Amino acid sequence: MSQTSQSNTDRVYIFDTTLRDGEQSPGATMTHEEKLQVAELLDNMGVDIIEAGFPIASNGDFEAVSEIARRSKNAVIAGLARAIPADIDRAGAAVKHARRGRIHTFVSTSPIHLAHQMRKTQEEVLEIVTQTVTQSRNLIDDVEWSGMDATRTPMDFLAKCVEAAINAGATTINIPDTVGYSVPEEYYEMIKTLIETVPNSDKAIFSTHCHNDLGMAVANSLAGVRAGARQVECTINGLGERAGNAALEEIVMALQTRGDALPYHTEIDATHLARASKIVAAACNFPVQYNKAIVGKNAFAHESGIHQDGMLKNAETYEIMTPASVGIKETSLVMGKHSGRAAFKDKLKDLGYELGDNAFQETFVRFKELADRKKNVYDEDLIALVDDEMGSI
Ligand code: KIV
Ligand code: ZN
Repeated sequence: MSQTSQSNTDRVYIFDTTLRDGEQSPGATMTHEEKLQVAELLDNMGVDIIEAGFPIASNGDFEAVSEIARRSKNAVIAGLARAIPADIDRAGAAVKHARRGRIHTFVSTSPIHLAHQMRKTQEEVLEIVTQTVTQSRNLIDDVEWSGMDATRTPMDFLAKCVEAAINAGATTINIPDTVGYSVPEEYYEMIKTLIETVPNSDKAIFSTHCHNDLGMAVANSLAGVRAGARQVECTINGLGERAGNAALEEIVMALQTRGDALPYHTEIDATHLARASKIVAAACNFPVQYNKAIVGKNAFAHESGIHQDGMLKNAETYEIMTPASVGIKETSLVMGKHSGRAAFKDKLKDLGYELGDNAFQETFVRFKELADRKKNVYDEDLIALVDDEMGSI
C-alpha cells in the first residue's frame, strides 16, 4: 500500500522493539527462552512487526532472531543492522526463514553524530544510504531505513537522505527521536514536511521511533501519527535505552480510548496488555512503577473516599477505560486513611460482614485510627478489627 493511501487510512501498524531497543536497557538482558516467550506473546496479541534483535551483536542474538523468524505466525520479523555490509548480511540471514522478514538498517544523520561518531561528510552519508538500502533490497523486499538522531538533523539534509533511501527501495522510513529531544509540535512538522516534500514519499510508510528522555515519547509518537506516520515503534512497559521508548500499551490505549480526538486504530488485542507487561517485567527483572499508565499496580486502584464513593456509584466517574479492556481483573478500592464509609462498608461486605449501625460506626473509627498508624491496611487487619468489635458486643 502506498504512503498516500496509508496516510488516508486510520490503520496504525505497531512495531514492537522490546526485544531490541528494550533489551538495550542496562540490566534488561533476556535469555533465549524468555525472548521466545515474549515474541510469542507479541505475535498473539496482534503486533504487526516484531524487531527481534540485532543479529550481528552476538551469536545469541542471531540465534534468537532466527528462531523467532521461524516460529512467528503473523508478525513481520525484523532484524537490525548498522550501515555496514556484514551487519546487513547477518540480519538478512537471520530473518530469511520468516514468513515475512524485514531488514532494518540505520545510519546517523545529525551534524553531531557525523562529526564525532561517524567522522563522515553529508555526501558520504548519502552514498552510504543508497548502498546499504540497495544491499538490503537485494536480500529481501521489506526494508526499513532509519536516520539516527533524525530530530537533530537539518531538514534539507534529512529530506535528501529520506529521498535516497526511498529511491534505493526502502519501504518504511523511520524518523527516530533518538535522544528524546523533540516536542510534539516540532515532531509533527518534521513528519508532515517530509511526507509533503520528499519526492515519491508515497512509496514508503513513515514511522515514529521516540525516546522518552523528556517524558514525551508517547505524545511525540501520536503527533507523528497525526502528521501521517502509520507505523509506531514502541516497547512493552516503555522499556528501552536510557529513559526508554514510547510505551506500546499507552499508544494502543490512547488510540482505543480517544478515537474522538485521535481517529486511528491498531489491530492489537488490548486484553493481553497486563499479561505482556508482567511477563516482560519478569523476564528483564525490571519492576513496573506503581503509577505507570495502563499497567501499573495503581492504574485501576482508588484510595480516596470521594473517588471510592464515585466508583461504587458508577465506575466512569474516575476511570476512562475498564480494567477488563487491558486484561486486569477488576478495579481495586484500597483501604487507607483517605477511604470513606461507603467503601469501608462495601469492603466489609466483600469480606462477609454486615454490621449493625453502632458496630459499624465504632469499627470505622477504629479503622481510621489504624490507617493513620499503618501504611498498608490489609484484609487481615480489617477482619481482626471486626472480630474484635464482634467479641466486644
Ligand atoms: O533510537 C534510535 O535511533 C534507534 C535506531 C537504531 C532506530 O534505536
Ligand atoms: Zn531507539
